[in-house]
Amino acid sequence: MSHKLYPHVFRPLKIGQTRIRNRIFVPGHTTNYGENNLPSKRHLEYHRARAAGGVGLIIFEGIRVHKSSLGRQQGVNGYEAEAIPRFRDIAKAVQTEGAKIFGQVLHLGRHIDGNFARMASWSASSIPWTATAPAPHPMTRQEIGMIVQAHADVASNLLEAGLDGIELQLAHGHLLQQFLSPISNERTDEYGGSFDNRMRFIRETLAAVRAAIGDQTMGVRISAEEFLDGGLDLDDMCDVVRRLVTEFKIDFVNVSHSAYHGSYTISTQMADMAFKNEQFHYLTEALSRSVSDLPNKPVIMSVCRYNTVDLAETMLAKGDADMIGMARAHIADPELVNKARDGRQDETIPCIGCNQGCADMLNLNLAISCLTNPRSGMEAQWPKPFLSAVDAPRRLLVVGGGPAGLEAASVAGERGIDVTLVEAKSELGGGLNYLRDMPLRKEFLHLVDSQKLRLERSGVRIKLNHSMSEEMLSDYKDDHIIWAGGAHPRGEVFANGEIAMTLEEALSMGDKLDQSIFMVDHLGTWSVASVAEHFADLGKQVTIIVPTGVLGWKISIYSSFALKQRLREKGVQVIGGHKIKTFSNGLLELEDMSLGKINGTHQADHVISPMLGIPNVLTLPFEISEGGFSSFQIIGDSVSARTALEAVYEGHEAALLLI
Ligand SMILES: Cc1cc2nc3c(=O)[nH]c(=O)nc-3n(C[C@H](O)[C@H](O)[C@H](O)COP(=O)(O)O)c2cc1C
Repeated sequence: MSHKLYPHVFRPLKIGQTRIRNRIFVPGHTTNYGENNLPSKRHLEYHRARAAGGVGLIIFEGIRVHKSSLGRQQGVNGYEAEAIPRFRDIAKAVQTEGAKIFGQVLHLGRHIDGNFARMASWSASSIPWTATAPAPHPMTRQEIGMIVQAHADVASNLLEAGLDGIELQLAHGHLLQQFLSPISNERTDEYGGSFDNRMRFIRETLAAVRAAIGDQTMGVRISAEEFLDGGLDLDDMCDVVRRLVTEFKIDFVNVSHSAYHGSYTISTQMADMAFKNEQFHYLTEALSRSVSDLPNKPVIMSVCRYNTVDLAETMLAKGDADMIGMARAHIADPELVNKARDGRQDETIPCIGCNQGCADMLNLNLAISCLTNPRSGMEAQWPKPFLSAVDAPRRLLVVGGGPAGLEAASVAGERGIDVTLVEAKSELGGGLNYLRDMPLRKEFLHLVDSQKLRLERSGVRIKLNHSMSEEMLSDYKDDHIIWAGGAHPRGEVFANGEIAMTLEEALSMGDKLDQSIFMVDHLGTWSVASVAEHFADLGKQVTIIVPTGVLGWKISIYSSFALKQRLREKGVQVIGGHKIKTFSNGLLELEDMSLGKINGTHQADHVISPMLGIPNVLTLPFEISEGGFSSFQIIGDSVSARTALEAVYEGHEAALLLI
């Protein structure tokens, strides 16, 4: 019987030789959970949780085929014998839960930092992928032959380990795409120049993998658009796929886009909340239609920004996609498919497309997690029973209803603790409420909504408009208190004593601000850049001064290039290496920090220059700050002013620690 709400999602499907229980898959995503370049127990528990959560198919993250693609030790290889039993355990865990698992076979080419393996990275030509990347070594024919064979060997290893199929990675600007794209291939031998020559490496690899694995399930992941001037476009890629499908047995085509390149394109791969959910659907549709007349039309997979099962259902119903990938949505909630199946969609922990806990961690060579779900990646360390009710019936008082306090109260409530949350303002959400009027950032409110729902469901008492009193704190002396009082915003003080506006002050004025706005980015987070964009969207003339030289330097490449392109299109001027010396009577002086000299005066209606907020702990009664209370924890911006990522994590962890 078909599912009432999601008839297309909950329809089984066969890919090659693999039967899959529904149409949702987890696209390959590097977790950085590897140990010594091998899969780990953390991988196993992470994927087991997603399989148990109902997804049909998991594609295991990019598995390196050769030492020249190894990079950081948290990445995973499939060529060492030691990898096979580890993959076997992971495959068994996933399959036991009713899902299937494919392995993504990958050579990163010029994207690895060769310093990890003490060798240069390899590519088609010696063209680095960004201005700051190391120069790659142009591969010899012998090296190409070795890597062709390496793909085949790793594919065989993975199937020997019991995985259900292979995804050959031709996408995202990795090695095989580097050969295919005229942007990165300037060779003059038989692997460069004409289209046929640039396809040669891919053809040889596909032939070798097929020969090694016989009829077992194999497909390709492609970038249907490179979004690069002079790069591969949709027409090229429709042509490439058509040729490959005609020549080889290709069971599925996973349609992604982008290339690792120091420009806008890389920020499309894990498109953040500023992108529309449907922005890249046209690529799947065109690609699917370009092979629709072929007798062996492969299964077509569509990805990117599907963050609800409703979106997946709509796309499947249109008929061009056979499966929908939900990577970040599964990082956020491993059980999202079962929740949709059982009519509990409203309980889904939302992916808000912030990239802060997942993609941004890749940039830092750290393990991925999720801003909205700190349990993500902690399945082995924080096993589920930890959530069960505590033995001792102590109560909990949470002070502060921002993201940290909301998370702490939710988790404690879910553990069966008697929780009261007090908030001085009239609504929950803290600083995130400022994003309500910012269309490109307001998905953060989904986090607040989901936390509120969790509070409600777990019976947490909420007291709004409630100032904290010493009596109330004393009442909890022998119970638990979690202090999530946030931080006081403050503006920069200029040399002439003038104080700049804070972001909060500026956002409260909104449309009432006058035309010419100068902002200073001392923080490097989304805060200044996103508010600047918001004011530009309101039609203001915005200039951003960046003393460090790089606007929003803590935002990873997975968002920053698109952000900078949008700011450029909206006429926001960014001036690096300067600071504001003085501001008075609508005139500001800019100092060139390299010379230490004034470099011009400018007229400005407003100057907005937030400094780090002051943690709101110094006003605590002496007895508490000196440890006089039995269980007192400080979390979030009250510890030090950071972002919602740290706030939610600390709220979650603090509530888990209550005994
Ligand atoms: C943390 C992270 C790591 C990723 N690593 C890979 C990878 O190893 N191989 C790959 O093909 N795509 C990788 N991707 C891209 C995803 O497969 C997917 O295409 C992208 O996240 C868009 O889908 P989504 O909106 O469902 O997240 C990664 C994405 C994320 C967020």
